[in-house]
Amino acid sequence: MAQKSESPTNDDDFLLTSGDTASLDLPRLKGTIGPDVIDIRRLYSDLGCFTYDPGFVATASCSSELTYIDGEEGVLLHRGYPIQQLAENSTFTEVAFLLLNGELPNATELSDFESDLKHHSMIHDQLIRLFSGFRRDAHPMAIMVGVVGALSAFYHDSLDINDPQHRMVASYRLIAKMPTIAAMAYKYSIGQPFMYPRNALTYPENFLHMMFSVPTEDYHVSPILAKAIDRIFILHADHEQNASTSTVRLAGSSGANPFACVAAGIACLWGPAHGGANEAVLEMLDEIGSVEKIPEFIDRAKDRDDPFRLMGFGHRVYKNYDPRAAVLRESAYAVLGELGVRNEPLLELAIELERIALEDKYFVERKLFPNVDFYSGIIFRAMGIPVSMFTVLFALARTVGWIAQWQEMIEDPDQRIGRPRQLYTGPTERDYVPPDQRS
Ligand code: CMC
Repeated sequence: MAQKSESPTNDDDFLLTSGDTASLDLPRLKGTIGPDVIDIRRLYSDLGCFTYDPGFVATASCSSELTYIDGEEGVLLHRGYPIQQLAENSTFTEVAFLLLNGELPNATELSDFESDLKHHSMIHDQLIRLFSGFRRDAHPMAIMVGVVGALSAFYHDSLDINDPQHRMVASYRLIAKMPTIAAMAYKYSIGQPFMYPRNALTYPENFLHMMFSVPTEDYHVSPILAKAIDRIFILHADHEQNASTSTVRLAGSSGANPFACVAAGIACLWGPAHGGANEAVLEMLDEIGSVEKIPEFIDRAKDRDDPFRLMGFGHRVYKNYDPRAAVLRESAYAVLGELGVRNEPLLELAIELERIALEDKYFVERKLFPNVDFYSGIIFRAMGIPVSMFTVLFALARTVGWIAQWQEMIEDPDQRIGRPRQLYTGPTERDYVPPDQRS
């Protein structure tokens, strides 16, 4: 069994010993910030053993320049910029440009980028027929997985993933078409006609227009709602090597079509432990119903025999307040105030639940704090966005991170097909027994 040495042999190396006989000097890699990483690529060839790390709790799957998280301190940086500053001062399209290109755009670059996105926002008319293959009551995330995956049937032949120009066009197409597909998934579920994108509108305005306008009357996009949703998009744009991003990278590592890779990311995001949590938070708050019932649900969350967990609480990386939750907590007050929603009972319930949980020994000891999903659902609901669309909005925004990470992976000279190993615990070799001789 491999054991770590007490201390690294020198500044650059890390000594790993296996039993009494074998040892290996492993390079210690340093990032610009954050913990060092032990390069174990020689481990199997030199020592004949693998590492065991279910859930990748101590494994860096790649190097990346996009996003940095310090979970202990509650820090989130995109290309070095703190998320709070981006949420306060930037726009989603500007953050998308930043993630894709590494620097904030100047005025001309931003205007060209936004114009390019606008000119890719329509979807092929034939794709529209695909929607009618879904049941009316299909979950919009199921529709997203199918329709985004189907984009690969439209753009496969012309896509050479080794050509940077092709990759960039695929990226623009995805970012531009996601709001159109998301809004169509919603319109389909309520039986209203699809609304086409309008180039005179900004990215968030256009999304609200496609969601809420109908052909029979004029629709005025509220600048307050557009700003609020843009901010939520910024907060969800990227988040390092989370489950769905790792899924996109893993799918892409085989050279697969990027639209199919993003469909895989959407499938992963759908789960309640990941992006589906914002939907689960509202369901949980509805179920709790009143402040008096909070202790009962806190007790259930702490009970190992009860599968109930406090949704919107806890995070694999953050062992402090999720900085995105802090921004959204403020936004929740601002948006509800600006929309004229006074005394939203769910917000009061959420704040009381947070207060009680943060004073409870169980949550304190495990460093369980509210995450990004805790407050986003409350804002979405106040904006009139149906619960089933919450995770779709997360997917829309995270597409930027997925595609920027996919691009970075393709350009990485260290990139190889993702192929984890395992600790085999099944039967050793044995002979086949014919059916009539089995006991
Ligand atoms: N409620 C009650 N107990 C919890 C919770 C929770 N929400 N989260 C973690 N714990 C407990 C867990 O039972 C374990 O206790 P013990 O040590 O006694 O066995 C301890 O805290 C450590 O939890 P873990 O399951 O080992 O942590 P993880 O890193 O594997 O899971 C998580 C992280 C986000 C899946 C988990 O905290 C969770 O299920 N939270 C609720 C769902 C949620 O809000 N998800 C959104 C994540 S943020 C948005 C995104 O990235 O998608």
